[in-house]
Amino acid sequence: MKKKRKVLIFDTTLRDGEQSPGASLTIREKLRIARQLVKLGVDCIEAGFPAASEGDRRAVAAVAAEIKDTGVAALARCLPGDIETAARALAKAARPRIHVFLATSRIHREFKLGKAKEEIVRQAAASVRTARKYFDEVEFSPEDASRTELNFLAEVVGEVIAAGAGTVNIPDTVGYSTPEEYGGIISYLKENVPDISRAVISVHCHNDLGLAVANSLSAVRAGAGQVECTINGLGERAGNASLEEIVMAMKVRKDFWGVTTGINTRQIFKTSRLVSHLTGIAVQRNKAIVGENAFAHEAGIHQDGVLKERTTYEIMRPRDVGVPRSRLVLGKHSGRHAFRDRLQDMGYRLSDGEIELAFEKFKRLADKKKHVFDEDIEVIVDEQIQAVPEVFSLVYLNVTTGNTTVPTATVRLKKGDKVMQDAACGDGPVDAACKAVDRITGVRGEMKEYELKAVTGGKDALGEVTVRVKVGGRLRAGRASSTDIIEASVKAYLNAINRLVGRNRPRASGKKRPASA
Ligand code: KIV
Ligand code: ZN
Repeated sequence: MKKKRKVLIFDTTLRDGEQSPGASLTIREKLRIARQLVKLGVDCIEAGFPAASEGDRRAVAAVAAEIKDTGVAALARCLPGDIETAARALAKAARPRIHVFLATSRIHREFKLGKAKEEIVRQAAASVRTARKYFDEVEFSPEDASRTELNFLAEVVGEVIAAGAGTVNIPDTVGYSTPEEYGGIISYLKENVPDISRAVISVHCHNDLGLAVANSLSAVRAGAGQVECTINGLGERAGNASLEEIVMAMKVRKDFWGVTTGINTRQIFKTSRLVSHLTGIAVQRNKAIVGENAFAHEAGIHQDGVLKERTTYEIMRPRDVGVPRSRLVLGKHSGRHAFRDRLQDMGYRLSDGEIELAFEKFKRLADKKKHVFDEDIEVIVDEQIQAVPEVFSLVYLNVTTGNTTVPTATVRLKKGDKVMQDAACGDGPVDAACKAVDRITGVRGEMKEYELKAVTGGKDALGEVTVRVKVGGRLRAGRASSTDIIEASVKAYLNAINRLVGRNRPRASGKKRPASA
């Protein structure tokens, strides 16, 4: 049988994915995701955009220092300063790659850059040459490639290959293309760029019209050798092509696409959950591959069919993407040793002190909750290590509520050695408690988003609350969990307030991308 062509998977969850509205990751969170991406088997991790912010530069440096068996890439504009900053950030990487980009479409040339075609070609090629002084692996992206005149695109691609780019990425930056058209662009480049075989053609599709995965697959069929994608399809605006969908489409329909990847698909579900958990962006229930409903059969006729023969209605097995039956890992009789081993298996690297604190919390939870699952442990540890300075901590909460009672809350908070108490009424118990918190802290928060989910099954499940709170024009996320959902809500709200009033820990990246060169 003919050996299948391997398509490289370039994961940009930590860079383009983190540009998702509402997503924000700390350096430790980025590191955890990077470790999981290694287990998933991606070929390259785009860890960030170092020139965008000091936080991003440090996050890229941290990923580069730890991840040794997978490529680590950093984004840079076609500017010497950006390239040098990326080189510094990637100094410790075992397999570093720089990804330089410059817009090429007429719209971007005229309205954003104010540059003529010749200038764009010159700047792109010069930047690739500069980048080659620092890096063996240079990737170039003509931003908004899919809306660039084809002959000009071919000229730019030819020039950057001549200058030393080993990968040329063809972004559909605004998700405007269609499968046939996008595949056609790849075919055109293959036919019209003389040295195209010296570079890997990469594709990077945005999902504004819901076509990112289809466009990427069409490009692969036309010969693209690398796909850029993100976990859960996170990314700027409507997101990027979703890694799990692309990989599983190639796997399930290998007869059609005729390609393979190095992805360990059994790590997909775990990776998806981790990214959702750390970014606070939930996966829609009916999301392909990783949504809660992806393997649920509701209609009786379907259930009957699956029971008789799974393949009647199931084209892939849940276990092939690592969908678990939540694993009961530990109980209240489990000891430190088992807990430590479990943490290690789950990819955590904690200090002895952190493990001890997490263990105490675990024991308290195990007293309240019969079954403690991996997901519960994740929540405990994330709260333990999230390092938001606890300027205010909750020491007492009492709520009165009911259908004939005005919801009222009494809250006691501790700040340093001082304990303060106040009470308030509200539209519900959470509103009342948050108002009492506002009265004590003197910070007026506006709850913009509120999400409650059960971390694991059962009536005694931990409730995890994620909130986005607006204070003085700035949004802050907060997250907390408890078996009591009112307590979890107040703690999540307080967590957001603490992020604001505490000395802000560095975010891993600047939210805003600097203007393109
Ligand atoms: O969408 C895009 O064009 C990008 C580039 C920087 C590759 O993200
Ligand atoms: Zn993008």
